[in-house]
Amino acid sequence: MPALPAAPAHVPRHIAIIMDGNGRWAEQKGLPRHKGHEAGARMVRTITEECARIGVQRLTLYAFSAENWKRPKREIDFLMKLLKRYLAGERPSLMKNGIRFAAIGRLHELSPEVLAELEKTKAVTRENPKMTMTLALNYGGRGEIVDAARAFAGDALRRGKVPELTEDEFARYLYDPAAAEVDLLIRTGGDHRVSNFLLWEISYAELWFTKDYWPDFSVATLHAAIDDFARRERRFGGLAER
Ligand code: FPP
Repeated sequence: MPALPAAPAHVPRHIAIIMDGNGRWAEQKGLPRHKGHEAGARMVRTITEECARIGVQRLTLYAFSAENWKRPKREIDFLMKLLKRYLAGERPSLMKNGIRFAAIGRLHELSPEVLAELEKTKAVTRENPKMTMTLALNYGGRGEIVDAARAFAGDALRRGKVPELTEDEFARYLYDPAAAEVDLLIRTGGDHRVSNFLLWEISYAELWFTKDYWPDFSVATLHAAIDDFARRERRFGGLAER
């Protein structure tokens, strides 16, 4: 077995990834698009395990956006089937690697079968201590902020008064308040946009893009992104330390 690569020196606490390019990866190989999604799901496992190994605390992956419902029904059905298969097949690896599973998005709009797999995976991995891996499913960043505003308004109505609202307090209404800061956002597939992903959470994230299609991503590319992240100076609006 080849030796595992050393972990990069400065590992971001929270990495988020827009896994783009599955379809183009398949097309360039003369394969049907669903083969690209299958290869993409295999890369999800590789990168999740590597992130846990090197000490990333949170990994959030954009697996299905609120806008992805516009795709042909056949592709959506395939992605949902793949997701169910992935979740059932992944539980042993999540347990072995100490990874807690979570999901964010308008999950109640997913099918009961997908929901059941999500719930089961969340339940069995609940106590795992090493890293939280979150799939964003039926997720949109603006929708998340609107859902948070609705939840806030609901609380205010119940209490009969509008409480003081700070950014930190508002963040408590997001889908996963503990994941409110992304350190490094990676996008594969060559486009330079954020596509409605984690809009609140990426306020101060470092952005990193690669032309590689998601199934061609690799542990080496992940390390390159992290090395680049470690060299950047994050000032959060302040001045550099001299
Ligand atoms: C973008 O590729 C990717 C998606 C729409 C979803 C991401 C899905 C996976 C990585 C596979 C399934 C994941 C799990 C966790 C089971 P695209 O189809 O937009 O590619 P294109 O831009 O080349 O058409």
